[in-house]
Parts: sequence; C-alpha cells; structure tokens
Amino acid sequence: MGPGDLSAALAPLPRESDPRLLVGRETFDDAGVFRLSDDLALVQTVDFFAPIVDDPYRFGRIAAANSLSDVYAMGGEPLTAMNIVGFPDKVLPLSVLTEILRGGQDAVHEAGARIVGGHTVIDEELKYGLSVTGRVHPDRILSNARARAGDLLILTKPIGSGILATAGKAGALSADQDEALYHAMSALNADAARVAVELGARCATDVTGFGLLGHALHIARASDATLRIAHADVPLLPGTREALVAGFTTGGAKRNADFVSALTDWGDTGPDVRALLTDPQTSGGLLIALPPPAAKAFCARVATAVVIGRVTARGSGPHLALD
Ligand code: CO
Ligand code: CO
Repeated sequence: MGPGDLSAALAPLPRESDPRLLVGRETFDDAGVFRLSDDLALVQTVDFFAPIVDDPYRFGRIAAANSLSDVYAMGGEPLTAMNIVGFPDKVLPLSVLTEILRGGQDAVHEAGARIVGGHTVIDEELKYGLSVTGRVHPDRILSNARARAGDLLILTKPIGSGILATAGKAGALSADQDEALYHAMSALNADAARVAVELGARCATDVTGFGLLGHALHIARASDATLRIAHADVPLLPGTREALVAGFTTGGAKRNADFVSALTDWGDTGPDVRALLTDPQTSGGLLIALPPPAAKAFCARVATAVVIGRVTARGSGPHLALD
C-alpha cells in the first residue's frame, strides 16, 4: 500500500499511550521500540512481500536482509526472527520453500541472530518475510524524529532496485547488472548501523517501499525540518538509467510520487529524476542524518556511503527540496 493510504487507514484508531513505548507509529519509524529497563529496549518489526527475483534462495536472502534492516534502522542489534510464509502448495514444490527458508536463515545467521519459529499459510501468491526482534540501548535509538538543521544526509546503498527488478523479470538485465542488484539487496545494513551509532547518530531510516523521497519525507515530517537532496549526487545501481529509459517502472513509484509531491519543491528536475527518487526500493540502504564532521568520518569508514544532501530549518517551507 502507498504511505498515504496507510496513514488514512490508521487515522481512526486510538494511539497507544504508554511511557515504555519509546517509538510507536506516530513518527513513521521502521520498528517499534519498547523499554524493558533503563539500559535495554526491545525493537520489533515485520515485513514480507512477493518474490522480486526468480531464484528462491536469493529471494529468501533478500527478504531477510530487508526485514533485518528495520532493526538496524533503529540502531538495534537483531536477536531473533520468525518466518512468515504464504505458499501456493498446488503450484510449487516444497523444495522451493526449503530454498527460500535457507536463504532467509543464512542472512539471519550472518546478522548474528537466530530463527526461532514462524507461521505458514496456503496462499495463491508466494510471499515471504520475517518478524525480527532486536535490542537497543534506550539512549542510542536512531529515530526519524531527530534530524537537525546543519546535518548532512548520507545514503549507504545506491537506489534503483524497483526499476531494475521489473527489468530483471522481463529478462532485460545483463548478468553483471543482475549480480550487482542482488548484491545490493542481499547486503546487510549491519555495519552502517553500527558505525552510525558509534559516531553518535540520532536519526536514520532505511530506504524501502516508499522510495528515497518517501522515507526522506518521513524524517522531514517527524523532525519538522527540510531535507534538501542534491539529486545528481544520489548513487544509482548499474543499469538503472537505461532500464528507466526503456520504460521499466513500478506501480509503487506513481503512488510514492503522489504522496510526496504536495510537500516537495521539485526545483528544475524533470520526470526522470522524479521517477528515480520515488522508485520503491527493496532492502535499500540507510538514510542517516549526521553533523558534518561525523558524516565525514562515516563516509571514511563505510565504503558505499555517499553524502546526498543536507538538513535545513523548515520554517514555512517545503519538507523536501531538490537541488
Ligand atoms: Co524501514
Ligand atoms: Co519497514
């Protein structure tokens, strides 16, 4: 679902009010955070989706990296995970499910966490994901709500996975492009999160289904700031531009663009830039706000990190602006 629809569906429900609930749904954050003691809080999240690549092992690995990412986006350390499966048992052999679960388990083990169970239903369309539980120190949570004017914005993975996955399903990617896409989507955000916390970061999210601008907007609104994105500095996965020109796109990009448009100053950008920056990502990188010295230190330690913009005071201006 698009972010606007989700907000509308949740609006009539009463908000949770409990002093132990450190991060709830108000800030559009990646995971809920619940305080257990002064130095320990629980991080909980869930995500699942239909296959975006044909290979079942790779799908499992990508889905798990994506689910683990929401714990990393809160500054947390994953501990346990539960599988969630919708499986078309009349259409696919059980060996496919085994390979999906093997891919998921390998990613969870790489994260230093354990699979502790799960739940499976018969479904017309295959779906897989995980609910991940982690821990974080209550004083070191990475929230959407703590970007400050003067911070630089860092992105830790290139974007374009929505466009490329669509092209890949049509057989339109080279072997190298396909490998680069898989490598990016299956890479854990563990190092990026650890370094961000070590450098004193307070604000981060991961870039997934709402696209770079959709997730940037969540930070801008929760922090009441303007995020200025230097669009030419945003890194793209290999082949993204060619796939876009060839007409590959997703329904999610249109929904994302509708969601962000009213709150965005698009500057002099054209439709191609808008399509790239609203492309829904699977298992994307972290978007982190850090003061300039820490941002510089971060980029020196995380090889894939790129500064893509900065945070300014909003006043009555737009939440997002493209430079
Ligand atoms: Co997230
Ligand atoms: Co999420």
